[in-house]
Amino acid sequence: MKVLAIAGSNSRQSLNKSLVAYAAQLSQAEATLIDMRSFDNTPLYSAERQQLDGFPAEIKALYEQLQVYDGFLLASPEHNGSIPAVLKNVIDWLSRIDMKFFGNKPLVLLSTSPGPNGGQTNLKTMSSLVPWWGAQLIDSYSLGNFHQHMLNGELQNPERERLFAIVSRFDEALQSTPVLQAA
Ligand SMILES: Cc1cc2nc3c(=O)[nH]c(=O)nc-3n(C[C@H](O)[C@H](O)[C@H](O)COP(=O)(O)O)c2cc1C
Repeated sequence: MKVLAIAGSNSRQSLNKSLVAYAAQLSQAEATLIDMRSFDNTPLYSAERQQLDGFPAEIKALYEQLQVYDGFLLASPEHNGSIPAVLKNVIDWLSRIDMKFFGNKPLVLLSTSPGPNGGQTNLKTMSSLVPWWGAQLIDSYSLGNFHQHMLNGELQNPERERLFAIVSRFDEALQSTPVLQAA
């Protein structure tokens, strides 16, 4: 099984990237990690731009990449209570290729912040939206006060146990998601 671990941040020091990388380590699947720095120069979506120039090459490549994986771990920061602009732009482009761009595959949503909120406001919004994008949402995991819980790259209990339980259910879903057979 192969999973794509996506950090919805374009920060080099992204806490959400650290968290999703950690979650990927807890999974038994083989994981590839990407972040939003690859989409820093993606033009802002507009219908006219799509008509005139088509889809940006990096968006087409990402859509193709999504097809190859069996499931997704997606960690998004919260920006002003919502999805960070760079991630939202990628989602807007992908949704114009295929509204169900996650391909009915399992997905865990994660979010963390240095403060106590742990991106919960945005996690709630995204939890209601990811099924529209074709994700089978397994669960969401919010980690507030990141620096208190992640020490020297190790998530401390009881948070580690809480995340491990979610990732284990994700791994089970990966095994039981039916593979579409060619007719
Ligand atoms: C523009 C901006 C808006 C933010 N808004 C929120 C917010 O609404 N809620 C929150 O908990 N943290 C907010 N933060 C703080 C982020 O949680 C913090 O920067 C976090 O480290 C971002 O995740 P990252 O390190 O993965 O990029 C905001 C940060 C920025 C730069």
